[in-house]
Amino acid sequence: MTFLDALGAFGAEDVAKMRNIKKLVYCVVALLAASILAPDFLFGQSQLPVAYPDGYRGWERVKSMVILEGHEHFEAFGGFHHIYANEQAVVALKDQVAFADGAVLVFELFETITVNNAIVEGQRLVIGVMEKDSERFSASENWGFEDFKEANPRLRMVTDMREQCLSCHATQKANDFVYTTYHR
Ligand code: HEC
Repeated sequence: MTFLDALGAFGAEDVAKMRNIKKLVYCVVALLAASILAPDFLFGQSQLPVAYPDGYRGWERVKSMVILEGHEHFEAFGGFHHIYANEQAVVALKDQVAFADGAVLVFELFETITVNNAIVEGQRLVIGVMEKDSERFSASENWGFEDFKEANPRLRMVTDMREQCLSCHATQKANDFVYTTYHR
């Protein structure tokens, strides 16, 4: 039996159906590829997600803190955390001026381990990121919020910036929604 005979056995209608399914599959694959390679192609500039903060461990560390059981934020982020700021964010923190577009702050959280009467960093649990962009994130006070579980660029955890992040950060409106102040 040749390939054409086999096609004949399906009947012209089935073949047409298969072609349509094939076309559909190609379309889905192309859209998926476009959304991964160039999210703005599909969703428009306004929907570009918060960028993963590559190399944040080399940025300026502006604060560290250990939150123990009993603290009001223990449930949300008990553990050992550091806050890092990129250059634009450091300028704003130091000079106490408004954060410019491009400013990024990273909240890095580790579990705590008590060893030999010392509190040390355990596993890295999450990094929280705030990226200032008045165009892309105008719906959330000009800040984009994202959590990357275990600092993994593929494990994005935020589905609703206002509910999951601004619910607390809105209390810092007078400081452009940022808690941290610069410790000279
Ligand atoms: C339960 C309240 C609460 C929620 C919810 C919350 N934060 Fe925060 N966040 C804080 C507090 C308090 C600090 C300051 C910690 C410090 O002083 O060391 C902070 C600090 C930060 C910082 C460092 C910059 C700053 O404001 O000091 C980033 C980045 C951050 N949070 C990201 C996020 C993201 C992303 C979300 C949502 C997934 C989120 N936060 C949700 C309370 C919250």
